Amino acid sequence: MAFRDLRNPFFFLLLALATSPVVLAGDPDITSDFVLPPNTNAVNGSFFTFTGMRCLLDSSPPTNFTVLKATMAEFPALGGQSVSYAVLSFPAGSVNPPHTHPRSAELLFLIDGYLEVGFVDTANKLYTQTLQPGDLFVFPKGLVHYQYCNRKTPAIAISAFGSASAGTVSVPKAVFTTGIDDGILAKSFKTDAATVDKIKAGLA
Ligand SMILES: *[C@@H]1O[C@H](CO)[C@@H](O)[C@H](O)[C@H]1NC(C)=O
Ligand SMILES: *[C@@H]1O[C@H](CO)[C@@H](O)[C@H](O)[C@H]1NC(C)=O
Repeated sequence: MAFRDLRNPFFFLLLALATSPVVLAGDPDITSDFVLPPNTNAVNGSFFTFTGMRCLLDSSPPTNFTVLKATMAEFPALGGQSVSYAVLSFPAGSVNPPHTHPRSAELLFLIDGYLEVGFVDTANKLYTQTLQPGDLFVFPKGLVHYQYCNRKTPAIAISAFGSASAGTVSVPKAVFTTGIDDGILAKSFKTDAATVDKIKAGLA
């Protein structure tokens, strides 16, 4: 590249394009039909079958909020397919605390019971709704959201994700259980270290 290129406006345009961060809209695409497990050269229908949700049909309802996942980790055939599921079981009064999925939106389908849901956008505006059975709700990608079973009856929902590994960042856990210094948290939340310790103790 010659020094005179620096006077060419197109040079700066190319430079801007070349140095802008690569933004991936979702999981990377694959150039094969599917991704085989390591050291395998053939699979059958069993590879594409996940039986880990069968337990939902014959176990008694959980006593606390539980998530049963079918992501790439539990179901390797999802690798490269940009999809996954989670089944969310809410006993009456339970909450799925504020969290984000950094790599995907979440499309929740309420099968049974009632759920109060909400998310917060990047302008800190809160969007809430009370869902009834049969309703779908979309939590946009990467935004903080929660679900709360606000009735005296349990709720069950199925969530679909546009990533084989959407990831979950729990706000309470990420902030208060990872060893961030009490002084930093106290300043950030405009409170004192004793209050921070109290929150930490509750989450331990
Ligand atoms: C499918 O593959 C699995 C694991 O490789 C094997 O255990 C199973 O017997 C196969 N099923 C059929 C119908 O061939
Ligand atoms: C949640 O409930 C399950 C099953 O009902 C139980 O095995 C587990 O110990 C409970 N977890 C907590 C944190 O209470």
